[in-house]
Amino acid sequence: MKPLRRILTEDGSYTLKREDLGETYHSQKGAITESEHVYLSNGFRYAVQNKNRIAIAEIGFGTGLNALLTALERHIGLEIAYYGIDTLPLDSSEMEALHYERTVMHPEAAAVFAKIAHLPWQFGEKLITQAVRDGFQLAKLAVSVRDLQLPQKVDLIYYDAFAPKYQPEMWEPVVFEHLATQMKPGGLLVTYCAQGKFRRNLQALGWTVERAPVAGGLKNEMIRARRPD
Ligand SMILES: C[S@@+](CC[C@H](N)C(=O)[O-])C[C@H]1O[C@@H](n2cnc3c(N)ncnc32)[C@H](O)[C@@H]1O
Repeated sequence: MKPLRRILTEDGSYTLKREDLGETYHSQKGAITESEHVYLSNGFRYAVQNKNRIAIAEIGFGTGLNALLTALERHIGLEIAYYGIDTLPLDSSEMEALHYERTVMHPEAAAVFAKIAHLPWQFGEKLITQAVRDGFQLAKLAVSVRDLQLPQKVDLIYYDAFAPKYQPEMWEPVVFEHLATQMKPGGLLVTYCAQGKFRRNLQALGWTVERAPVAGGLKNEMIRARRPD
């Protein structure tokens, strides 16, 4: 059994708490609110401008909420390749127990979330992607960020690891040196974490770092960073 407990956040959507770490998968101010602000508004919608295809990797796939919201974005003619990465993958029943189809107000939310939840995790090297919605191909890879070798370089990374206080090894410069090798020149990374040390580490590696303000009752700033060309 995984050390997980379901928690209701302030916007009415569920998240999970890792009891062994004492940390939640999303802001307790609102799981959907955080995902929408950090990864959709400041990540996806910014990165996708003037593109007809985009490749995204999510580090720390967790509940699949970011993938669901991204899949539900309607951009006619846009092709999205999405790689969900996690070392403690949730199974379909753990994901479906969060009932995002009830809190994500979209007529296709239930069908798309079921497909995301039921797509098998891949542990080996052979990569299988599957369309979970028109124009949205997903692969779920059970691998650590440190060993990640993607089949293509990505335009955008959703970096959604547990906070530095709880999992400091996820925020070490070596991780971002490695991630840069998995991104296109000028690729973007967005994360809810705006910690000063993390920001300075990225800058020392040559990344351009912007901070974005809080929104929707969230407590902290966030970061959008551009990989050096
Ligand atoms: C903050 S939670 C992710 C929240 C998720 N994006 C969501 O919307 O539910 C952090 C995730 O990072 C995963 N994780 C921990 N260590 C990792 C590693 N070395 N590589 C990839 N993922 C890791 C955890 O299993 C957990 O699912």
